[in-house]
Amino acid sequence: MTDMRILGIETSCDETAAAVVMNGTRVLSSVVSTQIDLHARFGGVVPEVASRAHVEMLTPVISQAMLEAGMVDGGKVDAVAATVGPGLIGSLLVGVSAAKALALVWDVPFVAVNHLEAHLYAAFLEEPDLELPLVVLLVSGGHTMLVCMEGHGRYRLLGQTVDDAAGEAFDKVARFLDLGYPGGPAIDRLAMEGDPRAVDFPRPMKNDGYNFSFSGLKTSVVNYVRKNPDVAAADVAASFQDAVCDVLITKARRAAKEVGAKGLCLGGGVAANSQLREQLLDACVADGLQAFLPARAMCTDNAAMIAAAGWYRLASDGPSPLDTGANPSLSLSVLGS
Ligand code: KG4
Ligand code: ZN
Repeated sequence: MTDMRILGIETSCDETAAAVVMNGTRVLSSVVSTQIDLHARFGGVVPEVASRAHVEMLTPVISQAMLEAGMVDGGKVDAVAATVGPGLIGSLLVGVSAAKALALVWDVPFVAVNHLEAHLYAAFLEEPDLELPLVVLLVSGGHTMLVCMEGHGRYRLLGQTVDDAAGEAFDKVARFLDLGYPGGPAIDRLAMEGDPRAVDFPRPMKNDGYNFSFSGLKTSVVNYVRKNPDVAAADVAASFQDAVCDVLITKARRAAKEVGAKGLCLGGGVAANSQLREQLLDACVADGLQAFLPARAMCTDNAAMIAAAGWYRLASDGPSPLDTGANPSLSLSVLGS
């Protein structure tokens, strides 16, 4: 097969990203412009602010990605892949429109990519020969899912959150503790100085199926701190993080055992969490499973994972029609069944 270079574009939330990846695995460039500073004073992503920032940043980010990949004129790009959903509609439209325009101008295929599927593919960037079936714990600001990946493009959703996503719980608890935005990295850092056994927070639905619930845990943290105003924030952060990791790891292990998975894989922004990564590795060693932890930069939103997922999609389904629209509530099964 001849080498194929795909330009990936990601604008579903608050990162404007572009990357060039060869054959779904070799990252030639990956540029991410984060809007964190723009949204920090609001304590969360403001959709209209995000769309405007994508409009402003996308062209320079794509140029930088092309330059770093040694392609200045676009002549060597073989396809353009973009996130079509799920995400913020205004933000998605910026990336999808740009991708279609470039595909038309360069006369190359356009590939519609599901953001969730792309998170699953982040691991394949580093380990193209991952053995299947694989259980992927996909934990981001918008989603918390346990997925069994049976083949490329073949997924079974084992469970998902019934209320808040894990990342959302991190962000809300961090906001309550005045740790700033985004909350996940702030709690991760502070938890290192705290005692995870200081407060015995509940482990919602730990032994109950594969669905998750984090909204009650967040309320428990708020109630506990209000009743115990002198408690050290580091102890609260460490105990909260311990409860989240305990639930996530327990269910992922159980799922891997039940489906006879060869390995366990982490994906999504929360997969950058130090304790979660450490405990997943320990669990895999104990259970005789392969552990796949994408590099932290590949766990949070980026365009290399979009280009990688686009390469597999193009190989299986061919180009996407140019009238494919952005879909803010796209589910994993729409593209992956
Ligand atoms: O995948 P992502 O970049 O964007 C979405 O698609 O949602 O995930 C962002 C989420 C945020 O909630 C953020 O707080 C969380 O990932 N996150 C973390 C860490 N780094 C990012 N959560 C816990 N620990 C971290 N180190
Ligand atoms: Zn994401």
